[in-house]
Amino acid sequence: MSEFARLVTIDPNSIDDMLVAEAGAALAAGQLVAIPTETVYGLGCNALDPDAIAGVFAAKGRPASDPLIVHVDGVDMADTLVDGGLPEVAARLADAFWPGPLTMVLPKTARVPDAITSGGPTVGVRCPAHPVARALITEAGVPVAAPSANRFGRISPTTAEHVVEELGDRIDVIVDAGPADHGVESTVVTFDAGEAVILRHGAITAEALAEHVAVRDVERTDTEARAAAPGHDVRHYSPRTPAVATTVAPGDAPPGNVAYVGYRDREVPLPQGWRFFPLGDHHDLETVARHLYANLRRLDATAPDLIVIELAGAGGIGRAIDDRLGRAASGAVATTADELADLVVARLG
Ligand code: TXA
Ligand code: MG
Repeated sequence: MSEFARLVTIDPNSIDDMLVAEAGAALAAGQLVAIPTETVYGLGCNALDPDAIAGVFAAKGRPASDPLIVHVDGVDMADTLVDGGLPEVAARLADAFWPGPLTMVLPKTARVPDAITSGGPTVGVRCPAHPVARALITEAGVPVAAPSANRFGRISPTTAEHVVEELGDRIDVIVDAGPADHGVESTVVTFDAGEAVILRHGAITAEALAEHVAVRDVERTDTEARAAAPGHDVRHYSPRTPAVATTVAPGDAPPGNVAYVGYRDREVPLPQGWRFFPLGDHHDLETVARHLYANLRRLDATAPDLIVIELAGAGGIGRAIDDRLGRAASGAVATTADELADLVVARLG
């Protein structure tokens, strides 16, 4: 792809059928089409077309070992991808959370190409809540594979402008429907003996899932299932600047050109030269999530030597936020003031 992507703007409140027909036809024909969803923008392609799938991996620079999730316009389409159809527990969650930001990993049918699942026996399916995303899938008439529309390891895009920055010269079409609503990706679950196992925290909280099924967190209990989620590298969602995360205030950490990322309603005294960069208010973490990735992108542009990120340390959407912030810091998390001072000294050199 040497030409620049075609930009198609679709107002989600007044969907233009002609534009949906154009972008849907591009998807069906095997083109690479960035699509809006309620979580982040996705890089969509016909999930039944191995050449198009290969194009998605190439555009992102994503290793073939990291499977793609498949977007459907409803349970009927999901049933064509999941062996035996959605099991009872998954159907219950679909009832409660679809359309919406929940991805369910289930045994696949032969219809799902191996390239989607990295050769594995399971496929992740999700029915997005975004009306433009669903209209595009229905128009294309095929399930749509869509990883986040960023280059591999980078911050997920929450606006069409971010997609342009990441992939504008590598894909065919970018559908712009304004900023994404949730700002963090879907929650990914698999199932074990009727229990939902969270592979990735996301826009549907563990607490909300637990109102419908027994839930556990893969990270704490199950290294094997965790290995079954190969995309979950510790370094991910990364700004270009080195970053460390912290659960404690900086205290008397050394001075420097440091961007301190925290919460407006929890401002803490900072060492000399450190600049405060609020993610929003801790009492409104939904809004923090919505603007999280745009803020991380902006941070890079302020050219600090180091980013120090205060974790939210909260339940609900706080878990997804801290998961992404921890990955932005490549897993370097300080839990005492001494640890933080040591990490800052090591990073500032
Ligand atoms: O909100 C979202 O989920 C966005 C929008 C575009 O829908 N998509 C997204 O896709 O975040 P991606 O590829 O960036 O993240 C999907 C995650 C990856 O970590 C991948 O490894 C995991 O889901 N995944 C996909 N299929 C899987 C499978 N069969 N088994 C285990 N993990 C899987
Ligand atoms: Mg991603």
